[in-house]
Amino acid sequence: MADYDFDVLVIGSGPGGYVAAIRAAQLGLKTGCVESRETLGGTCLNVGCIPSKAMLHASELYDAAANGALAKLGIKTTVELDLDTMHGQRKDAVKQLTGGIEFLFKKNKVEWLKGQAAFTGTDTVKVGDREVRAKNIVIATGSSVTPLPGVTIDQKVVVDSTGALELPRVPEDMVVIGGGVIGLELGSVWRRLGAKVTCVEFLDQILPGFDGEVRKEANKIFKKQGVVFKLSTKVTGVAVKGDKATLTVEPAGAKGQGGAAETIEADCVLVSIGRRPNTDGLALDKAGLGTNQRGQVEIDHDFRTAVPGIWAIGDVVPGPMLAHKAEDEGIAVAENIAGLTGIVNHDVIPSVVYTWPEIAGVGLTEEAAKERGEVKVGKFPMAANSRAKTNHEPDGFVKVIADAKTDRVLGVWCIASVAGTMIAQAAQAMEFGATSEDIAYTCHAHPTHSEAIKEAAMAVQGNPIHI
Ligand code: FAD
Ligand code: NAI
Repeated sequence: MADYDFDVLVIGSGPGGYVAAIRAAQLGLKTGCVESRETLGGTCLNVGCIPSKAMLHASELYDAAANGALAKLGIKTTVELDLDTMHGQRKDAVKQLTGGIEFLFKKNKVEWLKGQAAFTGTDTVKVGDREVRAKNIVIATGSSVTPLPGVTIDQKVVVDSTGALELPRVPEDMVVIGGGVIGLELGSVWRRLGAKVTCVEFLDQILPGFDGEVRKEANKIFKKQGVVFKLSTKVTGVAVKGDKATLTVEPAGAKGQGGAAETIEADCVLVSIGRRPNTDGLALDKAGLGTNQRGQVEIDHDFRTAVPGIWAIGDVVPGPMLAHKAEDEGIAVAENIAGLTGIVNHDVIPSVVYTWPEIAGVGLTEEAAKERGEVKVGKFPMAANSRAKTNHEPDGFVKVIADAKTDRVLGVWCIASVAGTMIAQAAQAMEFGATSEDIAYTCHAHPTHSEAIKEAAMAVQGNPIHI
């Protein structure tokens, strides 16, 4: 150890990096973590998962008060939007949680190196004026917004997710480019607060990667809530004049086969067409590393890059760009570095869209499962679940997909008010190799939304009780 400054140096303090650093320190390794932001926690805590959920939650309560849902329960209110206070509680949540990571770093004796890291060799990194040498380096630099060619994000009229979290007033007409997770979550925040929202999606359906039936049902639900979808449509230009934007869109298709172009006026345009890995400025070449065609750092099953002693995790490596996936990889990489066996089961990573209702899934879609062999599918509507019914939350369903021969659960998909919480039991069941019969014969508390998972599993068996 004599001439090394650290056993482990983590670059990036997002959910991948900070978790890797803490676990490495817990395992007795001298650990440092480089972060260029002013606060720890990465995209997730600063401008991602946490502030978006603060706005989602607050806007849901506002909507329930404003649209009469509370009045139906006998709660009469006079509703007024105080957007500054709503933003204030968002900032407060971020401050508390990012401060919490700083506290955990101190508690675990992880040194925070403040600044931008760049490789100077295979085991050396420069941060500001300081060059440090580490036995192991973990690249956890995350991702940032994919720009739309020809469209300038000014964070006033044309915003990315960071700008969309902080809008100083409710737009009248908001256009969301991209019907993925960010577009639907943040689009629904501003729709609930009063904006007219149009979502332009290149593909023929929203939420790529989700189960086909779930995508269709989600589209129906959002439409009912007032979101206008322009599917199979591409944006060919955005012209900003003052505080207004004019978007030119045309049907997606090969050049010349698209069809007639039209224009849409908006006072806010959200560009949410995906995220790309952060490697700019890292000087990967100095370490003998490169990126693949998608800009990601390639790794093996143990999170090792092609250069011994350099590891990578989270959004910067292939796989879903999700905080919980990054966190689990953070624990596993630290354990591998310490000589233990760190494993992440990438087949069982749940995915949740925190709209109202929530949309969640884990494992294979029905389409992907059918490609592998014969399946049995059980479905149960939330309208027949007593708790959802009592809470006036009739939208959605649960779907359990099982192998036709072995009955092993291959995938579970839910649309329900608390789908994000419900999906954890499905992930656990799949992690333990459960069959649909195992779920069907597990006692679930009544009345809970989770009973819908049990009933969907019973439906796979052909004998649900409540439908
Ligand atoms: P990041 O969180 O991106 O952190 C990387 C850190 O590295 C950054 O702080 C960056 O400043 C730092 N860094 C980069 N390069 C350097 C360098 N050279 N030197 C020093 N520091 C550097 N995922 C979910 O699972 N659930 C959600 O609800 C959710 N909501 C989201 C909402 C929004 C609006 C967005 C944008 C994303 C959301 N995500 C969500 C995705 C989630 O934020 C990411 O998957 C997650 O943050 C990835 O973690 P990471 O550790 O790989 O990287
Ligand atoms: P996304 O990949 O989820 O969706 C992007 C959408 O834009 C896709 O539907 C795609 O077809 C469409 N698109 C691409 N180019 C387009 C174009 N030119 N015109 C119109 N549509 C176009 O990406 P998004 O929503 O930006 O989110 C980025 C990442 O952040 C996701 O990978 C997601 O995993 C993560 N995230 C996760 C959240 C969660 O777990 N709840 C919340 C927010 C983000």
